[in-house]
Amino acid sequence: MEIVIVPDAAAGGELIASAIAGLLTRKPDALLGVATGSTPLPIYQALAAKASAGDVDVSRARICQLDEYVGLPPGHPESYRSVVLREVVEPLGLSASSFMGPDGSAEDIAAACADYDRALAGAGGVDLQLLGIGTDGHIGFNEPCSSLSSRTRIKTLTEQTRVDNARFFDSLDEVPHHVITQGIGTILEARHLVLLATGEAKAEAVALTVEGPLAAVVPASALQLHPHATVVVDEAAASKLKLTDYFRATYAAKPAWQSI
Ligand code: PGA
Repeated sequence: MEIVIVPDAAAGGELIASAIAGLLTRKPDALLGVATGSTPLPIYQALAAKASAGDVDVSRARICQLDEYVGLPPGHPESYRSVVLREVVEPLGLSASSFMGPDGSAEDIAAACADYDRALAGAGGVDLQLLGIGTDGHIGFNEPCSSLSSRTRIKTLTEQTRVDNARFFDSLDEVPHHVITQGIGTILEARHLVLLATGEAKAEAVALTVEGPLAAVVPASALQLHPHATVVVDEAAASKLKLTDYFRATYAAKPAWQSI
């Protein structure tokens, strides 16, 4: 696992957007797995800026969703489908046909989950999956004690996650209890995992993820199993890591030809 400590969220966004631009140059129709929440927004802004400046051609990029609320009416502005269309697909000038996600309003949620796992595999698998991290260590909506080999399925949010996400809704009561999320096993099939964490509130979860034992109680620690996982953290999110000197020295000494 590579740990990159950046000065702030904007620098993290720029670094990851550059890696995505490099991927799209090598593979123009790469499948990008995108995360929602506040943390990845600087990545999307930096990537859209590169696209508008003509630094990267994103026109053939394909976008897929990591997770989704269950039970919000179709078109709800806080459904993750709406968020991804608004924050990623439209700013990149892509059409909705370049985008895929699980159907959180399906009658048969179990079938929608299985369909989504099949659709990801049918699309050739995810080339680069962006991840945030919950204050409880979740990735996607894989809450603590999720199976490390789980597939896309329905999960129940912890109260902590509902409280963390209430800022996107008018009240806590409106935050759904249930979600569809790519499983940890599903996420681990992506070719490159890039987790961005910013702010002091994520420091404990980051330290447990990177330096703690592999444990289902910290779902993000599953990144330790992946051959190409990159964790990008700002100074605040890095503040509880013990090996920061090593991580900084490693990144500073990285060969110029090697991307994250
Ligand atoms: P946040 O959410 O980026 O809004 O903090 C991260 C997550 O819950 O995965």
